Amino acid sequence: MIMNTEKLVLAQFGCGYWGPNLLRNFSALPNCWVKYVVDASADRRAFVQANFPRTSAVESVGTVLNDPEVQGIVIATPAASHFELALAALRAGKHIFVEKPLATRVAEVDELGRCAAQHKLVVMTGHTFLYNAAVRYVKKLIDAGDLGEIRYIYSQRLNLGRIRSDIDALWNFAPHDISIIQYWLGDPEPLTVSRQGMAYIQDSVEDVVFLSVVYPGKIMANIHVSWLDPQKVRKMIVVGSRKMVVYDDVADDKIAIYDKGIDRKAILGQHMDFDAPPRPEFNYRSGDILLPQVKFTEPLRAEAEHFVECIRQGRAPLTGVDHARTVVSILERAGNGVLAQPLAA
Ligand SMILES: NC(=O)c1ccc[n+]([C@@H]2O[C@H](COP(=O)([O-])OP(=O)(O)OC[C@H]3O[C@@H](n4cnc5c(N)ncnc54)[C@H](O)[C@@H]3O)[C@@H](O)[C@H]2O)c1
Repeated sequence: MIMNTEKLVLAQFGCGYWGPNLLRNFSALPNCWVKYVVDASADRRAFVQANFPRTSAVESVGTVLNDPEVQGIVIATPAASHFELALAALRAGKHIFVEKPLATRVAEVDELGRCAAQHKLVVMTGHTFLYNAAVRYVKKLIDAGDLGEIRYIYSQRLNLGRIRSDIDALWNFAPHDISIIQYWLGDPEPLTVSRQGMAYIQDSVEDVVFLSVVYPGKIMANIHVSWLDPQKVRKMIVVGSRKMVVYDDVADDKIAIYDKGIDRKAILGQHMDFDAPPRPEFNYRSGDILLPQVKFTEPLRAEAEHFVECIRQGRAPLTGVDHARTVVSILERAGNGVLAQPLAA
């Protein structure tokens, strides 16, 4: 246990597109110091040096691993490098926060889990949306039974760009959707996972993917991801037997709850139930739409605080190895879209 008043010393590997967001949030936490950033690129090291003067930008991972003052490492490098860097950090006795996906194979996640358990270290994955107030609001609605039985969920995570050549659109975007859906449904094991995708811009890197997952209890999920789309869309729809919810992450009103549904009519004079009516009849419910106020706090700040709290209190994170494992296992069942070597530019 590390006292709240004791300074926690961290380091970060990788500070490209996403890394600065993590660095900004970890640097702003009280009693936290990001002592180093390691980046393979001289330009990115210069960026860190210019913008984060309390942090030293260095080239070698060894500098961090061999510094006993460093207690935790934030890993924000491309997915293909996560496992190797995470394992080295754990072996050096450091807690780790690893950007999504934790690794590219379930066997790797298991190895990280074993190593962390052996050394009593925290492993947390950057499944940011589980620290998002709107996602948590929907989880409460589902758990309270307000939506009734969940029938199906679909999501769209679409953009024009930023194209990657080390990972396909599914592995790049869908960790978010899978993580959210698993969280909402209470982490069930899918019955089937199937994908349909196409590579239009670069050979072997799918730009557009539709992922279908079927869960026990007739629950379906469909995830559409693309970086080849005219609109920026971040939308998820949950259809329940009582109510339906639209979660739109780019709208002002992030959540809309629709009191809509279709029920079968009970037939009076028979059995007061639905068994074998001559012709089924239906009630169409179309009630109010509720736009609840959701108090927004920056998810990355909440995520960074959670990692630090877990280290200080020796707790398992919400997005620890178990959660990350389900996400990687669904992606792995869908087909590996991470390239060992990025395509040449
Ligand atoms: N949570 C989110 O919403 C979110 C959003 C975007 C990206 N990400 C994740 O963040 C991670 C990084 O993505 P990105 O878009 O910033 O990638 P990027 O390619 O822009 O940046 C990666 C950085 O890591 C450096 N690097 C690569 N290998 C290294 C190594 N072995 N040692 C030290 N530095 C190394 C590169 O020089 C680069 O600066 C990925 O895992 C990605 O999935 C998460």
